[in-house]
Amino acid sequence: MKRNILITGGAGFIGSHVVRLFVNKYPDYHIVNLDKLTYAGNLANLKDIEDRPNYTFIKADIVDFEAMRRIMDEHGIDGIIHLAAESHVDRSIKDPFTFARTNVMGTLSLLQAAKEYWETLPEKYDGKRFYHISTDEVYGALELTNPEGIESPFTTAASSEHHHAYGTEFFLETTKYNPHSPYSASKASSDHFVRAYHDTYGMPTIVTNCSNNYGPYQFPEKLIPLFINNIRHRKPLPVYGKGENVRDWLYVEDHARAIDLIFHKGTIAETYNIGGFNEWKNIDIIKVIIKTVDRLLGNPEGYSDELITYVTDRLGHDMRYAIDSRKLQKELGWEPSLQFEEGIERTVRWYLDHQDWMDNISSGDYERYYEEMYKER
Ligand SMILES: NC(=O)c1ccc[n+]([C@@H]2O[C@H](COP(=O)([O-])OP(=O)(O)OC[C@H]3O[C@@H](n4cnc5c(N)ncnc54)[C@H](O)[C@@H]3O)[C@@H](O)[C@H]2O)c1
Repeated sequence: MKRNILITGGAGFIGSHVVRLFVNKYPDYHIVNLDKLTYAGNLANLKDIEDRPNYTFIKADIVDFEAMRRIMDEHGIDGIIHLAAESHVDRSIKDPFTFARTNVMGTLSLLQAAKEYWETLPEKYDGKRFYHISTDEVYGALELTNPEGIESPFTTAASSEHHHAYGTEFFLETTKYNPHSPYSASKASSDHFVRAYHDTYGMPTIVTNCSNNYGPYQFPEKLIPLFINNIRHRKPLPVYGKGENVRDWLYVEDHARAIDLIFHKGTIAETYNIGGFNEWKNIDIIKVIIKTVDRLLGNPEGYSDELITYVTDRLGHDMRYAIDSRKLQKELGWEPSLQFEEGIERTVRWYLDHQDWMDNISSGDYERYYEEMYKER
């Protein structure tokens, strides 16, 4: 079937994996990648597919309603996968307005543009989809009731030996929203707008809330690429607080597969949680990364341990996130495909093999931002 799909934020980390998957897997679809190319957007992420006949890139700001309305019309868009956002918690603490602007007003502008365009068509909302990508951070924080970790009650085919849970509670699709950071508050607000457009106008929306992603093409302000890069340059590895905070990690290509499945098979107006049942304390992840980078660079074991530097904790730092993704497993048969150890190995290799990508990004503005972020500690 021919379709015209708008993917927003396609030059970012997760978006580039989604664009690549759709362009390769669906030659009959026309994929329109719309991205403002902020500091986080990088067309080098899509070099391998940029010349494909079923791919178009448009540089635009989702807040620009007139532009969104025109693009819907010009490209006959019938499906939207919305990933464009400001995505870094630390930046949201310094500059919350930008987060409200893009994440809230931008999502609203896209919703309204889709509504106005689809309502002009004879079939209206039939066969249409507005799929909004959100985060587990909207649910707030869970307690670290088992600091040493217990056997997780949930398993997947890709469960590794490290199959710990650091508490007994998990985020469900029904968990009440309780965001703490300006980032998660802005994402929560955008999720509410998306659901409101279904409830008020009958727009065919879907929302998914995913845990922390890792893998190739992630901007090096986020923990895993930041640490790989810093180890390579023998720079300090800034660990917030005691490194006890727990996150649930998912390989980015597994997230992209889930997005593909849900976009095509998910039920309208439903929410699906996406996670890896793969909880790690920050400090343990850091140790795995150090070990892997040192091994791949031929350094002796323990060589980079001394780079670990404990710094003042992030303001309002949420203790634990843990997703219960059994609904997605049961209803649509999705599971993570990759063992964490394998995912980390692939990820570290990718960053070490793509030093030019990393060096291009890590120069100039980013370098100044990085110095600013960590200067007081
Ligand atoms: N990274 C994660 O671990 C994670 C986990 C769960 C959910 N999410 C969500 O997934 C989405 C993508 O996250 P990511 O990590 O790939 O983010 P990212 O920061 O790597 O990419 C965001 C992209 O959006 C673009 N963008 C920003 N503002 C824009 C605007 N006003 N108009 C158009 N484009 C704009 C940027 O240029 C960039 O290409 C976000 O909505 C995020 O909230 C991320």
